[in-house]
Amino acid sequence: APVVAATRDELAALLAEARSAGSPVGLVPTMGALHDGHASLMETARARIGDGPLVVSVFVNPLQFGAGEDLDRYPRTFDDDLKLCEREGVDIVFAPSVEEVYPGGEPQVQLKPGPLGKVLEGKTRPGHFRGVLTVVAKLFGLVRPDVAVFGQKDYQQLALIRRMVLDLNMPVEVVGAPTVREPDGLALSSRNRYLDAEQREAATALSRALRAAQENAPYGVAVALDEARTELREHLVDLDYLVITDPDLGALPSVVPAGTEARILVAARVGTTRLIDNMELRF
Ligand code: PAJ
Repeated sequence: APVVAATRDELAALLAEARSAGSPVGLVPTMGALHDGHASLMETARARIGDGPLVVSVFVNPLQFGAGEDLDRYPRTFDDDLKLCEREGVDIVFAPSVEEVYPGGEPQVQLKPGPLGKVLEGKTRPGHFRGVLTVVAKLFGLVRPDVAVFGQKDYQQLALIRRMVLDLNMPVEVVGAPTVREPDGLALSSRNRYLDAEQREAATALSRALRAAQENAPYGVAVALDEARTELREHLVDLDYLVITDPDLGALPSVVPAGTEARILVAARVGTTRLIDNMELRF
């Protein structure tokens, strides 16, 4: 079973011991309410670090939640989280309190995400990526991982973490892992448990729309977007954005040659639950 560290000191002591073997250290940051998507990140990390220590952090980071978001009702399932970590051969679960991570309250120095933090999710969730990057930078400082694994499910988050590591020369390899889905296509998410039966059905619209765009990409950007919008209109979802970008979330060129790689991203509300998804696209 994994060893649980609740404090920075406990974590440091466990890591000092584990590190002495010289094997690479892996980190999978999470907010808990773990599911098979998180499990796949742990498997990706394990494949990279061999028998080195695998650390999973479980911390619902208040800094990345805006006013009126779901911080207070965010699902907390620590006993089940531990079982999943045990199944995945995790060595250390770092589960600190808010006090432990932010002893002086909100930190004075925080990371500024830059232009990539202002679009898409950043538009509806001001301050969100500042909170994400700040806590991920702190986790990197506490764990000093050789490899850190993040899901493509949160594609903009992954892009920003890669950018942070590049721009600030952080000595960690960031690995992106593919999105794990339910059989009907819905991307696994801790927030899916907020959905009632009718909303759960409506939520499939997101992945349906992205697949429709994928299939219609050979007919060009406009057709791909139209087909995706049609799927979304047929379901009870309140669309926030649906965009096609280049793989780095930049604008596509005005003329898109056949074979161009792109990304399609969607965010929509189903009832009060905000869902996001994205897929690769090839024109
Ligand atoms: P959380 O939402 O718990 O997600 C933790 C990691 O799991 C992220 O890298 C996310 O992209 C990945 N993930 C979630 N659903 C997935 C799925 N269906 N398939 C594959 N990977 C999936 O993202 C966060 O927490 C936080 O912002 C965090 C990075 C921990 C900083 O607080």
